[in-house]
Amino acid sequence: MKKRPHVVVTRRLPDAVETRMRELFDTELNIDDMPMSVEALSAAVQRADVLVATVTDRIDAALIATAGPQLRLIASFSNGFDHIDVEAALKRGITVTNTPGVLTEDTADMTMALILAVPRRLVEGARVLSLEHDWTGWTPTWMLGRRVTGKRLGIVGMGRIGQAVARRAKAFGVAIHYHNRHRVAQATEDALEATYWDSLDQMLARMDIISINCPRTPGTYHLLSERRLKLMRPEAYLVNTARGEIVDEAALIRLIAGGSIAGAGLDVYEHEPMVNPKLIRLAEAGKVVLLPHMGSATIEGRLEMGEKVLINIRAFFDGHKPPDRVLP
Ligand code: DGY
Repeated sequence: MKKRPHVVVTRRLPDAVETRMRELFDTELNIDDMPMSVEALSAAVQRADVLVATVTDRIDAALIATAGPQLRLIASFSNGFDHIDVEAALKRGITVTNTPGVLTEDTADMTMALILAVPRRLVEGARVLSLEHDWTGWTPTWMLGRRVTGKRLGIVGMGRIGQAVARRAKAFGVAIHYHNRHRVAQATEDALEATYWDSLDQMLARMDIISINCPRTPGTYHLLSERRLKLMRPEAYLVNTARGEIVDEAALIRLIAGGSIAGAGLDVYEHEPMVNPKLIRLAEAGKVVLLPHMGSATIEGRLEMGEKVLINIRAFFDGHKPPDRVLP
């Protein structure tokens, strides 16, 4: 009988995924559900044939250098793969896979929720009833936000998630603009009635809402630098459901606090799980809405991500190319 691959899983996955994983492979689960220490990860890559990692694991070149020759596959339970040094893995002959596609709609829903929540003061309003208990009734001038319909949304990164955000925003009567490394197909632009901006700087200066939907790559670190954030209009909002490091968070905080940017909706942070206390103060002041990296957090999405991980591992050990190989 063929030896079953030894799979080490770094975090708890949905029950159904773990059960199937155990049926198919010689599986070692992390029952603590805490991110593994560097030492524990290093020990794992010395015994595993497959490491099932998540966005909370840092699989850098130093860790990969400690892997034993048996490690053949890093199957990430994630869409993004910025937590993995893919080049270092490939150099060691280790295949890397991710789970694209299945969290597109969920992440776009959460982005749209923030696009609505920030200008319409949703969390502030909810807090009056659920925490402060001091609602004195409707008034013509209280809790006024900004209208979303008719505004210009600038999407930074028009991949799968960016396009899904555009579809939603269009239905809300928002004008779609985007910046992307490459212009998308004419048919896509036509369907979304989207305007392409070759210059990110020029787009930033003209939009009412900016949504970050590009991947975190070496080229997108602080893409929204202080200089670029300063180009935004004082009435504009920034929404980020991609990766915290794409935005210079300290600069964003300064600019919102100083009134140069109206506010932000954030699901991701530069130093997760740490959230800058100044951001929390801005949230208390109603300037920002903060979520704890939950863009893809649906039961359906997480099951489908697990299914993709299983498919990738099976394909690999059946001698096929896994469908979601991350290429250099
Ligand atoms: C991913 O998979 O990249 C997400 O950020 C996790 O929700």
